[in-house]
Amino acid sequence: MLLLRRCPRLARLCSINSHRHPVTPALAPCTASFSSDSDRGSEFRWSRRWTHAVAGLLAGTGAVLAYALHQHKAEKADAITGQTVDKLPSSSTSSSSTSSSSSSSSSLPIFSQDEVSRHRTLQDGVWVTFKGGVYDITEFVAMHPGGDKIMLAAGGAVEPFWALYAVHNQDHVLEILSEYKVGELRAEDQKKQQSLNPSDPFSSDPERHPVLRINNLKPFNAEPPPEILSESYITPNVFFFKRNHLPVPRIDPESYKLTVEIQGPNRERGGALSLSLDDLKNKFPKHTVTATIQCAGNRRSDMHKAKQVKGLNWGIGAIGNGTWSGAKLRDVLLAAGYSPDDANWARHVQFEGLDQDVAGTTYGASIPLRKAISEDGDCLLAYEMNGEELPLDHGFPIRVIVPGTVGARNVKWLGKIIVSDVESSSHWQQNDYKGFSPSTDWDTVDYKTAPAIQELPIQSAITVPADGAIVDRSDEEVTLKGYAWSGGGREVVRVDVSIDGGKTWKIAQLKSSDKEQTAGATAPPPGQAWAWKLWELTVPLPADTEEMEVVCKAVDSSYNMQPDSILPIWNLRGVLSNAWHRVKVKIQEEQDDQ
Ligand code: MTE
Repeated sequence: MLLLRRCPRLARLCSINSHRHPVTPALAPCTASFSSDSDRGSEFRWSRRWTHAVAGLLAGTGAVLAYALHQHKAEKADAITGQTVDKLPSSSTSSSSTSSSSSSSSSLPIFSQDEVSRHRTLQDGVWVTFKGGVYDITEFVAMHPGGDKIMLAAGGAVEPFWALYAVHNQDHVLEILSEYKVGELRAEDQKKQQSLNPSDPFSSDPERHPVLRINNLKPFNAEPPPEILSESYITPNVFFFKRNHLPVPRIDPESYKLTVEIQGPNRERGGALSLSLDDLKNKFPKHTVTATIQCAGNRRSDMHKAKQVKGLNWGIGAIGNGTWSGAKLRDVLLAAGYSPDDANWARHVQFEGLDQDVAGTTYGASIPLRKAISEDGDCLLAYEMNGEELPLDHGFPIRVIVPGTVGARNVKWLGKIIVSDVESSSHWQQNDYKGFSPSTDWDTVDYKTAPAIQELPIQSAITVPADGAIVDRSDEEVTLKGYAWSGGGREVVRVDVSIDGGKTWKIAQLKSSDKEQTAGATAPPPGQAWAWKLWELTVPLPADTEEMEVVCKAVDSSYNMQPDSILPIWNLRGVLSNAWHRVKVKIQEEQDDQ
C-alpha cells in the first residue's frame, strides 16, 4: 500500500497485503519518528503531508480536497508498480462474502448492506457504498482532506455527505474512488438506499437572482456580471456576491440567541451574555456603516489564467458595497463585561456561525481584538443590509461586519462571539485564506507559517467595457468604468487608467456616491474609508489602432499601489489577486451604408 511504502517502519509492522491491519496504533510511532529516520527528506515530507491532510478540518473546501488529491496522484505516480498487487481487494477474498458475483455483470463480488456495515473501523476496514458500488477506502482515510470526517460515512452510503460537500462531485474524485471498488451492493439493498435518499441539505437555500453567475451551486457561490457593479454605488442585495461554504441555515428569529463569552487570561471567567435579536435591536444604539466586502478570492480567475491555482474561479465580482445597520460590536463586548484591563491578555475576537457541516462543525473566523473593540473600528453586528432585513444568504438574522477586512472574517449567521487570547481554531482561519510566496507549492505549503489574511490590499477593476467588447469607431469616444477599494480603512485617492496597455495614463474621476461629486464633499475620517469608490473616464477612441488594451490601477492614502503583473504575486490558492486589471476592446470600423 502507498501508505506503507512511504513508511518503512509501518511496513515492517504490518502485512502488506492486508487491508485490515491495525493501522492506527502502528501509524502513530511511525509518523512521530520520521524526523529521526535516515531517509529524512522524503519521509519528513510525507509525515507533514499526512498530518496536514488529517488536520484539514472540513471537506467543504475545494482547496483542501485538491491538495490531498494532488498528493494522492503524486504518490500514485511514483508507486505505480505493484499497485495492482497492493490494491487487490482483501474483501474479494473475504470469507464474509457469502454472496457470489454470479448474478452481477461485473466480476466483483456482491455484498449485502449488513456486510458493508461491519466495516466501520480501520481495524475492520472502512467500506462505503456509492451508486450501488462497494468501496474499501481504508487506505484513503489517512489521505482524506476532510480529516476523519470521512469516517462518518463508514459502513454506509457516501451520497448524503457528498450532497453536502459538493466539491466531491468532480470527475477526478470519482476516478480516485473507482480505484477502491471491491464489489457491488446487493440489488435489494440498493433499492432500499434509493428510497431512503437523503434530503438535499441545500434544499432550503433561498431563491437567487438568475443574473448571478454561479461559480458553485451547492454550497452557493455566485457573483454579478461586472457591469452591474458600477451601475450603482450601493450594490443591491440581490446582486451582491454570495459566498457560502455550507448550506444556508434557517434560523428562527424568535428563538435566536447570540452568546458572547470573555474567556479570561486562564479561561477561568465562565458565564456568557446571551442576547436575543430583540435585545440587539433595542438595547443597543443602532449604527449604520457603508462598507465594501471583498472575498480574498476576488479576481482569482486572473491569477488562474497566469498559472493554475486551486479554488473557485471568481471573476471581478466577488466584491460589493453595502450599507449595514446594527449594534456596534464594541458596545456588545462592553455589555458582556469586557474591560480595558482585558487588553492585557486578550488578543482576538472569535466568531462562530450557525451554518454547520454534517459533523456539526460550524464556520468560524477571528479578528484582532484591537479592531473589534476600537471606537473607530466600526465593527457591527448587522441586522440590516441596504435598509432591508439582512437577507438569508447574507447572514440573517445577524452577521458581523468588519469594515476594511477580508470577507472571510465577516461571519454570517452569527451564533457566538468569544474574546480570547488565541485566534479561531477554525479551518478557515488556520488552513485557508492565507497568502504564500509564488515559490510555495502544494508539496511545500505549511499553513502555520503564514498569518491569516485580515486587511486586504489595494484593488481596482474595470467593469465596463467587458473584456473582448467591440465599440464602434463612429462613437468617437468610449466611457470606461470600474471600482477601486483598499482594506484597513485606507482611502482610494487616485485611479490611473490607460488605453494603450499601460504606456500612458489618465486620471479617472472618482465617485463616492451616485450623485455628481462636488468639490469639498465630506470625505470619511482618515483611516475609516470603508467603502469603495466607483471611477469613470471618457476617452476619445484612438485613431491609430483597432484594439485598445484598457488597464486600471489604484492608489490608496498610504500610497499603496497595485502590482503591474500577476506572476510575482501568484500563490497556490489564488488569493489577494490585485494586479493591474486589463481588458481588451476592439474598435470596429464604420460600415459603409452604400
Ligand atoms: N460566514 C459563515 N457563517 N459562513 C460562510 O460560509 N463565508 C465568508 C463570510 N462569512 C461565510 C461567512 C466568506 S469567505 C465571505 S467572502 C463572505 O462571508 C461573503 O459574504 P456574502 O456572501 O454576504 O457576500
